[in-house]
Amino acid sequence: MTDTAALEEDFLRIVESDQRIEPRDWMPAGYRKTLIRQIAQHAHSEIIGMQPEGNWLTRAPSLRRKAILMAKVQDEAGHGLYLYSAAETLGVDRADLTDMLIEGRQKYSSIFNYPALTYADVGVIGWLVDGAAICNQVPLCRSSFGPYGRAMIRVCKEESFHQRQGYELLLTMMKGTDAQRAMVQESVDRWWWPALMMFGPPDDESPNSAQSMEWRIKRHTNDELRQRFVDMSVPQAEVLGVTFPDPDLRWNPERSSYDFGEPDWDEFVQVVKGNGATSIERIAHRRAAHEDGAWVRAAAAAFAAKNDRGAAK
Ligand code: 3HC
Repeated sequence: MTDTAALEEDFLRIVESDQRIEPRDWMPAGYRKTLIRQIAQHAHSEIIGMQPEGNWLTRAPSLRRKAILMAKVQDEAGHGLYLYSAAETLGVDRADLTDMLIEGRQKYSSIFNYPALTYADVGVIGWLVDGAAICNQVPLCRSSFGPYGRAMIRVCKEESFHQRQGYELLLTMMKGTDAQRAMVQESVDRWWWPALMMFGPPDDESPNSAQSMEWRIKRHTNDELRQRFVDMSVPQAEVLGVTFPDPDLRWNPERSSYDFGEPDWDEFVQVVKGNGATSIERIAHRRAAHEDGAWVRAAAAAFAAKNDRGAAK
């Protein structure tokens, strides 16, 4: 048996016994490549994901709501940094990943290309977008790559606060005026289908899933997690007193799950291609923030270099 074949056999034995692959372990080039792809795009999503809600920080209706939203948006920045750190253990540099994002050579989640038009969106993003993220990220806590799985454990603890604060905000609005209730329902109507698209294309159109499942990077398929999210969300919507904009949504006793309609996958493809309602704005904002922060990075690098020279004497 060649050395590589023996290494591959060892790798698969570790992965298939649900143990972790650590950065210093041997790994197939394809494993490293798909992890860099997924973790980088996950990190980009967290950072870009700060924009829709960030736009509401100055317009939050009370100091309490502002403080909660500030905490959530700051959490998202931290999630991005954990994930860039996890990606860097695979030999890439976050500066290069940021360049790839800004130049459109790497993606971020489609969901963040939809505008947050009303204050109810702040609640619906917390409830549905962070709820979908929880469905997607909890299994990733068991991802075979150690730094990714461990980053997810901390992220998921904070995500549950994100979802609860959004749901509580909506419960408050639903106890308010007719206009507030209408604002919540209108927001749910806009965000429901994009939230289902967060889980990725249907399994039979997912080029990465099979290999990612075999390598235990992903623990469930896109459709499995989408179904789990629908089954979780419908009872929550009933308590809230809102409906989802899907005439095909109904309980299926034979499957003990909800049947639901098909997202608009043409819309998904267009949004992922960069033709979403806010695609241009999101990247322009990220580019401007990166350029505005160049002096901070230069100062930090100069300070670190001065310290290194001092330590070397
Ligand atoms: N938005 C943008 N691109 C998407 C996408 C989405 N919602 N879903 C899939 N894609 C892309 C994939 O990146 C892939 O393109 P690539 O090969 O060029 O990277 C292509 O569409 C085919 O999709 P696959 O299903 O084959 O790809 P994956 O196996 O990678 O599955 C995924 C896609 C389910 C998103 C998976 O990458 C994943 O689980 N990523 C980690 C979780 C994540 O990134 N979540 C994003 C939201 S973060 C967030 O919500 C923050 C919260 O705090 C609000």
